[in-house]
Amino acid sequence: MKASALRNRIITLSIGGSMLNPGTPDVNEIRKIASLINSLDLKFMITVGGGKAARAMVDSARKLGISEFYSDEIAILQTRENAMLLKGELEGAYPSIPKTPDEAADAINRYKCVVSGGMIPGYTTDSVAVILAEACGSRRLVNVTNVDGVYNKDPKEKGAKKYKKMTLSAFADLAVKTDQRKAGTNFVFDSIAAKLAKRSKIEIDIVSGKDLASIKNAILGKKHNGTVIS
Ligand code: UTP
Repeated sequence: MKASALRNRIITLSIGGSMLNPGTPDVNEIRKIASLINSLDLKFMITVGGGKAARAMVDSARKLGISEFYSDEIAILQTRENAMLLKGELEGAYPSIPKTPDEAADAINRYKCVVSGGMIPGYTTDSVAVILAEACGSRRLVNVTNVDGVYNKDPKEKGAKKYKKMTLSAFADLAVKTDQRKAGTNFVFDSIAAKLAKRSKIEIDIVSGKDLASIKNAILGKKHNGTVIS
């Protein structure tokens, strides 16, 4: 297969830790997402977040006076554990959890799926997902998260409006507003990740982890209930 044809078949998935590990691992959710991935004849570059477990570790680390850098390292370990759980359910997955973008980009040439956690202190798994998309030439990133799209303000607030679609520039501006750059912080989508997606014109689809039909449609480039950012 030509390199360009291969790249068109690589879908990047950024799966929020809150979906897979909302305190303790959600085995049903892990099985559901894995069986969807297993059923599709595409390659998947997957990044898994830390979830509540990572945040709890970061809170404890801060109480102990551990620096933000090492708090991030602790959270990254949790993302890697979550990645191992998902990898265990996937067919044709690279057996290791890659430590660098190079390793992940090399592995996707040989395997159907590669599952990563975090990689770089100060970053988030959303940014790692975009970096991996850039590294392997993937054109679409599906962000599976605990909200059903991008809103103009906190979806819990009155009058919050969901965007069906928006530009990468508008999305990056919105992400900057919410970025506090602290270990364990919860972003709509990390602002660095949004800016990287903008520079490489990588389409981002934000979909709810509870809406399997939308996840599938987003992966296949079809209409879905989330937000399309391009
Ligand atoms: P994320 O914030 O990316 O995970 O990583 P998440 O659980 O997916 O977040 P949400 O809730 O779905 O949005 C958890 C933490 O791990 C560290 C950061 O402290 C981050 O807040 N981390 C992760 C890094 O330092 N570097 C990475 O590359 C990834």
